[in-house]
Amino acid sequence: MANTPKVQAVLDRFTEIGIIPVVVLNDAKDAEPLGNALMKGGLPAAEVTFRTDAAEESIRIMASKFPDMLVGAGTVLSVDQVKRAVNAGAKFIVSPGFDPAVVKYCVDNDIPVCPGTATPSEMIAAMNFGLDHVKFFPAELNGGLKKIKAITAALVNLKVMPTGGINADNVVEYLENPKIFCAGGSWMVKGDLIKAGKFDEIEQKVREAAEIVKKVRG
Ligand code: 3PG
Repeated sequence: MANTPKVQAVLDRFTEIGIIPVVVLNDAKDAEPLGNALMKGGLPAAEVTFRTDAAEESIRIMASKFPDMLVGAGTVLSVDQVKRAVNAGAKFIVSPGFDPAVVKYCVDNDIPVCPGTATPSEMIAAMNFGLDHVKFFPAELNGGLKKIKAITAALVNLKVMPTGGINADNVVEYLENPKIFCAGGSWMVKGDLIKAGKFDEIEQKVREAAEIVKKVRG
């Protein structure tokens, strides 16, 4: 089953951007300056995690202030959260685990979704919903690149987004692997920097990450 044009367009943007910043916002007032730092630094994307009460409003602000940015929701654990995220302007859904109800709702409603997986069984379950791109989480603790290589040698049509434990040092080897469409991580958008309002520092870290993508992928 081929991806719909809407889903494929989002997956293409994930691939093109290369590193997707995973953000935790405790206060929606930080959404605009953070969005600015991401745009100016050269990673025009954010996975805004539904771990805080500010997530929904932060997505709304980022999606409306930065129409060219790929803004989505992460840590989505229920269909209700999918609805709230999409209503706020999220263009994709990411989850730490594989929940069939969440995936089915997204597929039925043409919402790009990347469920979290860590085993071949979970990946096959996702593939049987028609998905060919999944998150691999938590990547480093689950065997990292070695495990991705072993699994994708069998699941040949699957592309993976490793997240969890990725940083500026180890992201290069992940991005070099053709089975990896993008990597996710929080290292350039750490909560303490957001809390301290250090958006220039965030922008610099984002720029360094964007340069890594350019260097690896040209
Ligand atoms: C997460 O869901 O926390 C993301 O995977 C980010 O992981 P990281 O903080 O290790 O980059």
